[in-house]
Amino acid sequence: MLSPKLHALFCLCSCLTLVHPFDWQDLNPIAHFEPSARISKIQALIAAAMSGQTKIPKGSGPYSVGCTDLMSKYTIKSTFLRLYYPSLPEGHSDTVWIPNKEYFYGLSKFLGTHRLMGNILSLLFGSVKTPARWNSPLRTGEKYPLIVFSHGLGAFRTIYSAIGNDLASHGFIVATVEHRDGSASATYYFNDQSAAEIGNKSWVYLKILRQGEEQAPLRSTQVRQRAKECSEALNVILSAIPVKNVLDLDFDMQQLKDSVDRDKIAIIGHSFGGATVIQALNDDRRFRCGIALDAWMLPVDEKVYSRFSQPLFFINSEGFQYPANIIKMKKCFVPGKERKMITIRGSVHQNFADFTFTTGKITGHLFTLKGQIDSNVALDLINRASLAFLQKHLGLQKDFDKWDNLIEGEDDHLIPGTSIDVSNQHGTLQNSTGTNNVD
Ligand SMILES: *[C@@H]1O[C@H](CO)[C@@H](O)[C@H](O)[C@H]1NC(C)=O
Ligand SMILES: *[C@@H]1O[C@H](CO)[C@@H](O)[C@H](O)[C@H]1NC(C)=O
Repeated sequence: MLSPKLHALFCLCSCLTLVHPFDWQDLNPIAHFEPSARISKIQALIAAAMSGQTKIPKGSGPYSVGCTDLMSKYTIKSTFLRLYYPSLPEGHSDTVWIPNKEYFYGLSKFLGTHRLMGNILSLLFGSVKTPARWNSPLRTGEKYPLIVFSHGLGAFRTIYSAIGNDLASHGFIVATVEHRDGSASATYYFNDQSAAEIGNKSWVYLKILRQGEEQAPLRSTQVRQRAKECSEALNVILSAIPVKNVLDLDFDMQQLKDSVDRDKIAIIGHSFGGATVIQALNDDRRFRCGIALDAWMLPVDEKVYSRFSQPLFFINSEGFQYPANIIKMKKCFVPGKERKMITIRGSVHQNFADFTFTTGKITGHLFTLKGQIDSNVALDLINRASLAFLQKHLGLQKDFDKWDNLIEGEDDHLIPGTSIDVSNQHGTLQNSTGTNNVD
């Protein structure tokens, strides 16, 4: 049922992926696609976008949600984040989901395809919006707990809006950091004030491992930088000195700062961001608890696993996890420290990011953006389990404890702990990448 034009587009994309094969194996900790699978996945993405199913869900809580961007200072050392917050309910249009074509170029690089693919992605997804009111004024009169969110490898600050929207709709301020360690598909900064005034952005793209370069040392350096960036985001938001937003947007940052409950701060992250959660809990005690969404454990030094004392919650997908990773997670479970783990049945790694909502059903499966579980059901589980955990460990006076059973994995869609059997893994593990320390 494809039009000839679309078919031509498919062929073009296939050629692009043949000429520029994926470096996916280097970039993605888990995926080992066959070349033919890569091509069908790219095709699937195109078809998915064409099917017009582009609905990122609104938050399910009682608050209206606003969204803005904040960049403090100049140069690559500046803090860059996207904020979701409880907002006034009227006016203001929805937020552009991926606001610059350079992010699509970055994604095409991450996928190992030609830059042209970025143009195509930009055409397909460039006008998608997320249901949060852009620059809508903050709803004042209440102090809100604060979540710092850390994105995954090849991602960036805007593509976890389904989670951001939902947490904000339940009365949280969510700051999704855009990392400057070379793990984002793309990010930008302004060199100085005059560059900002004329909008001359300096772009930084995903850092790709050189041929033969070992993954672990780079990831270790990156995860420590990422944790610092999360702490720096806190410094910026909590700072006594008014923050100047280099982006010069029509949003009152002072109001935001006055509305943060400074004693109720948590950190959440996905994949590489899950590793960042663990590093940040260790490095910065202001984070009172953490939630690691399908964490990729390799980047974090094993000495860290048992060192921090704040509560930690692992929410895993069924599709992504593998023994070496689960063994590392289990090393975080030490007596006297609050550690929880659940697995969402039939879910995949991309169930945590927005792309799972911007594709049709069949094509989403092909591209592994969707699992067997309905993406909305998975998102509800992720969010409700998180809210229950946050209420417990931030001491919130809300009704999120009605979802306490989810923290224990008590639901038809959940597995308590993990489905991965690690009882007989020693021999095999010692031979696989990144697991040299398993004893
Ligand atoms: C933009 O910034 C770059 C790098 O800082 C600089 O080389 C270039 O001249 C600038 N462009 C303009 C129009 O100022
Ligand atoms: C691991 O590697 C060693 C040496 O390379 C080999 O002798 C051994 O059989 C391997 N073990 C497994 C379980 O693959």
